[in-house]
Amino acid sequence: MTMPDAVVAATEAFVQERLANHGAGHDWNHTERVTRLARRLAEAEGANHLVVQLAALLHDIADFKFSGDEEASGRQAAAWLAGQGVEGAMIAHVVEIINTLSFKSVDQPRLRTLEGQCVQDADRLDALGAIGIARTFAYGGWKGTPMHDPAMPPRVGMTAEEYRAHLGTSVNHFHEKLLHLRDLMNTPTARRLAEARHQYMVEFLARFEAEWQGLD
Ligand code: ADP
Ligand code: NI
Repeated sequence: MTMPDAVVAATEAFVQERLANHGAGHDWNHTERVTRLARRLAEAEGANHLVVQLAALLHDIADFKFSGDEEASGRQAAAWLAGQGVEGAMIAHVVEIINTLSFKSVDQPRLRTLEGQCVQDADRLDALGAIGIARTFAYGGWKGTPMHDPAMPPRVGMTAEEYRAHLGTSVNHFHEKLLHLRDLMNTPTARRLAEARHQYMVEFLARFEAEWQGLD
């Protein structure tokens, strides 16, 4: 195999080129932020850096919401890594992480390896805080859903199937997904980062509601 640093650099260039034209929160910038966070978590938690970086870089190369195929990212990642001479066991590990990472419901099983847990935490942290708020409204704008509709209460306890089919408002998305993520973090480092991002969203929602009512 080529040297790990060279594989990471080549993968970075490959993904950046592939995601250059993606908007709606799943662009190269999302991948870059997730990779940065994932490196930091890997360092703090003692996870394998190469696996974590490759999985973070490749996790959204063919997002399901855009491709309509849940395993497309994993397959494309496998093909790319094989071309880089990465060994089979490592490719299998990276692909397993990519295929099991994405949020489906609050009760999905925990990722099997520490490396997967770091990448999942990093991906989820990027859905929280100031960036998370911005991405939620950017996504709503792309989908054409309303920011908020007081007549539409959030739905809780959706199955994976229901969650996928559900088209809600951006504000409801906080209640249906984002406010649950803090308690689903795998690693202690991510839990600490998630706490501050969570509080910031809670404050944002309180202010949003007050302004909506003309109170603040
Ligand atoms: P991931 O697969 O990375 O866990 P998603 O693909 O579900 O995340 O979502 C990408 C971004 O769009 C996230 O910031 C997420 O919070 C936001 N998003 C997803 N679904 C909705 C929705 N129904 N309304 C508003 N924002 C959404
Ligand atoms: Ni992602």
